Amino acid sequence: MVKLTGLKKIKTAVFISGTGSNLKNLIRFSKIKNSPISIDLIFSNTVKAKGLIFSNQFNIKKYISSFKDSKITEAKILSLLNKENINFICLAGFMKILSKSFIKKFSGKIINIHPSLLPKYKGLDTHIKAIQNKDKVAGCTVHFVSAKLDSGKIILQKEVKISEKDTPTSLAEKVLRQEHKLYPAAIKKIFS
Ligand code: GAR
Repeated sequence: MVKLTGLKKIKTAVFISGTGSNLKNLIRFSKIKNSPISIDLIFSNTVKAKGLIFSNQFNIKKYISSFKDSKITEAKILSLLNKENINFICLAGFMKILSKSFIKKFSGKIINIHPSLLPKYKGLDTHIKAIQNKDKVAGCTVHFVSAKLDSGKIILQKEVKISEKDTPTSLAEKVLRQEHKLYPAAIKKIFS
């Protein structure tokens, strides 16, 4: 893993597909003096990602490309990351699966936030599954990305209580609030 050297922040790209509340939160975190990272690139696989507004708002470069031809898209991303000297990737609501070869090239330098207490509920619809199964707790996990989906080494997790009144939507909101604390904490943990 890259270690923080001197006062230089680690140049980071954030990959998104949607609203980008985690992206916005990470940008805010990156601007704190003691933050180990700076955010220098936003990648989205869709122009529809609302989070792309933060590119203009915070003057951060963006690159958008669908994964229709994933090989070409990944090659282009890799060349951009090289060009911009980006050494770390945060997936934040990124809904495409990166290839094994891409992950290998950035081995130990890609992390993801997932809205469940992994290894429980990998993949989609985590909140629906937790409520259907009458779970008492849900939560979120930040983990290293490995070739197997949602299975890399766990960095940090946070539990969230499920109340009887919770719906998948209310639970998603509760978990998301915790994600916004957990993601910066996990990054601090990696680089401390
Ligand atoms: C977050 O809840 C994140 O954990 C989840 O998508 C949401 C994105 O919200 N990620 C996944 O499900 C990845 N498998 P955001 O766009 O507001 O950050």
